[in-house]
Amino acid sequence: MVKIAISGKGGVGKTTITAGLARALSKQGYRIVVLDMDPSPNLLSSLGCDSKIDIEHIKPLMEMKDLIEEKTGAPQKGYGLVFKLNPKVDDILDRFGVNCKDNVRLLVMGSINQGGEGCFCPANTLAKRLVDYLSGSVDFLLMDMEAGVEHLGRGTTRTVEILLIVVEPSIKAVEAAKHIKKLAQDLSIRKVFAILNKVKNKKEENIIKGMLEAMKIPVIYSIPYDPAMTKADLQGLPIFDIEEGKNMNKCVEELSKILTAEYVLKA
Ligand SMILES: Nc1ncnc2c1ncn2[C@@H]1O[C@H](COP(=O)(O)OP(=O)(O)O)[C@@H](O)[C@H]1O
Ligand SMILES: [Mg+2]
Repeated sequence: MVKIAISGKGGVGKTTITAGLARALSKQGYRIVVLDMDPSPNLLSSLGCDSKIDIEHIKPLMEMKDLIEEKTGAPQKGYGLVFKLNPKVDDILDRFGVNCKDNVRLLVMGSINQGGEGCFCPANTLAKRLVDYLSGSVDFLLMDMEAGVEHLGRGTTRTVEILLIVVEPSIKAVEAAKHIKKLAQDLSIRKVFAILNKVKNKKEENIIKGMLEAMKIPVIYSIPYDPAMTKADLQGLPIFDIEEGKNMNKCVEELSKILTAEYVLKA
């Protein structure tokens, strides 16, 4: 029912937070589907999956020309082609969804706008239709967005209820947040919140918080810098599955409670 997009500058922690949040929400009994919208998708390794899956062989949906053709009836090139505006998408999650830890299901979408064909190309139509369909059949649809802002105007993000901007303590991350907030305003997304990540001390936190709040972006949560992330990265394991990941697990659990709390959902 609730669509949440997670955005922000590259490297700030979008994928880590999306994965953790998805798992925390799922553990509370919510039905969760996560969409990896990054052109170089890597959410699966942060989520972790139950069975042995060959990550290398998972192809992003938006690159599956045969599927797009099957669903929309149009080959993936050229303008002015006639294609179905309402493709049938109810089998896509079963066919292509990856079962991840804690019952989270993942669809690797990839970047929506392949080849700069504009918003009305068959792939975009399929993606938009899929997002609409999925949001009607799960409790939370989480979208791990690509870095930058250009993609935010595309059909899939237009209808999100909550836009989370991940910000690390750096001016570049704050600048990116400013652009994203502006775009969100243009798209009339009402609930835009910041999550601070990799915070090393209170002073740092207050400075960044002050900047974001001056831009009217409420900060709903701060996640400390956690050296255990490096260990998880080196081991190739999700932080949420290692002993040292307990602080991060606690953070995403608290964040999930804040998001489900009435004041955010109804604000
Ligand atoms: N709270 C944190 N403390 C320390 N390192 C972090 C934290 N959150 C994320 N990282 C690290 O930052 C890097 C980028 O994280 P990632 O989630 O891939 O960001 P994004 O998806 O925004 O590019 C990764 O190496 C990750 O381990
Ligand atoms: Mg990422």
